[in-house]
Amino acid sequence: MSLNDFIKQLDDLVESAAHSFENAIREVDKQILEETRVEYLGAKSGKLKEVQKNLGKVPKDDKPVAGKRFNEVKTRLEELFQSATEAIMGGGGKGKSEKLDVTLPGVRPRLGHIHPITQTIDELKDIMGRLGFSAVEGPEIEDDWHNFEALNIPLEHPARDPLDNFYLNVAASGTGGGNQLMRSQTSTVQIRVMENHKPPIRIVSLGRVYRPDEIDATHYAMFHQIEGLLVDTNVTMADLKYVLRLFASSYLGGDVEIRFRPSFFPFTEPSVEVDMRWQDTWLEFGGAGMVDPNVLKAVGYDPEEVTGFAFGLGVERLCMRRHGIHDIRYLYDSNTKFLAQF
Ligand code: PHE
Repeated sequence: MSLNDFIKQLDDLVESAAHSFENAIREVDKQILEETRVEYLGAKSGKLKEVQKNLGKVPKDDKPVAGKRFNEVKTRLEELFQSATEAIMGGGGKGKSEKLDVTLPGVRPRLGHIHPITQTIDELKDIMGRLGFSAVEGPEIEDDWHNFEALNIPLEHPARDPLDNFYLNVAASGTGGGNQLMRSQTSTVQIRVMENHKPPIRIVSLGRVYRPDEIDATHYAMFHQIEGLLVDTNVTMADLKYVLRLFASSYLGGDVEIRFRPSFFPFTEPSVEVDMRWQDTWLEFGGAGMVDPNVLKAVGYDPEEVTGFAFGLGVERLCMRRHGIHDIRYLYDSNTKFLAQF
């Protein structure tokens, strides 16, 4: 083992020990303190002992330097333990000082960071912003006008099944009235925007949607969608494909191929499933289509005058695909070790 490697090991050891002792201090926890002591300074198999074994492997000429550094690090770890003990036991630990040693390094506050899904949302908004789409928001509690009726989903449609939706047990209220539910799709926002604005429209909306799905590696009862809507004169499916391709290439990086498979959504005609090929793998990302004339009529537009496209893609899928995450549950079980990677 080279001197440099040995010194690197020592440096890493100090850094991680400092972290762990800070953690014990932050938690004000004697047990964590003791576990940390054993982990680093334990006489039998503490990390310091482990590193010490490598001292023998350092070239003979470098030994004096290595040995000196080793002793410094040993002292440093003992100091770390000592000051953590004092911090936790309030100075009573070893009956030593109640004095405040202002020369000791401070405890660095641990900073959190933005959740990968929020990062994804910000980035997707940014990309669509550059394509001229402004971001809008809609409520997560919806009425059946916006979640179904105006989207051309009639009363007897299976999409309204109570088993497929989170209906709320409250009296009808709000615009449109009717049963309230946690929105099952962000397409609701299409209606909200079109009700209040005249064409041309060019918006995206990113947010949570809720479905009582069985939870597994690719399903969760809450997830996020990105909804896009463009209404103008002479909008075609070619525009839709072009926008999706630019969007996906910008987010995933490199070229992305878009494939449309015929599908059905009550609020688009024709409707397609959107697949994307990135790094030689095809994956389904959501649905899209040309806004159904009935939807345009429901919001008071004239389908003879304007046409539009809409799409709804899964934000988790995009994020997971880009980062190679294979289980959606990782995103939501609040494991900071996992989340800190992004
Ligand atoms: N709202 C549809 C879904 O949740 C996706 C979609 C959006 C389809 C817009 C067509 C147009 O599955």
